Amino acid sequence: MAFELTKEKQELVKEVITHYPDPRSAILPAMHIVMDERGWVGDDGCQHVAELLEVPIIYVYEALSFYTYFPKHPVGKYHIQVCHNIACNLRGSEELIEHLVNKHGIIENALTDDGLFYFNRVECLGACGNAPVMQVNDEYYEDLTLEEVDKLIEGFKKSSGNGKNN
Ligand code: FES
Repeated sequence: MAFELTKEKQELVKEVITHYPDPRSAILPAMHIVMDERGWVGDDGCQHVAELLEVPIIYVYEALSFYTYFPKHPVGKYHIQVCHNIACNLRGSEELIEHLVNKHGIIENALTDDGLFYFNRVECLGACGNAPVMQVNDEYYEDLTLEEVDKLIEGFKKSSGNGKNN
């Protein structure tokens, strides 16, 4: 079934369009609205944005393929992105990645069976001075140690009702 925003969100997109002289300029804000609603964009999200903005879908696809910020598939409740560029690499991002896989079973580029986590590597997150850096949804976690990663993951599980103590 094709994806559609709620009527309320569709109205919001139409309102956003009025802020720009060309509806193509509203592509990124419209994709943010899709992200807010379901956490990812994907082909059907592109189709819907193109229809709402009345622009050729290729413009929306171009934006989706350029900005890694917009996932093209479901990324679970917690989308974990670990920077693997030089500063983070030198400060332990590979160990952090191995820890996610080996201790928490959060495999790279795969949704966990419970649908909670999706993890992928990303290029520089722009917080090199506080490496290693991990982004979870819209939050940055910096100067990370393996112990802090454990606390974060367990906290996410608990707040989702999947923790060992629940
Ligand atoms: S190298 Fe990791 S945030 Fe820049």
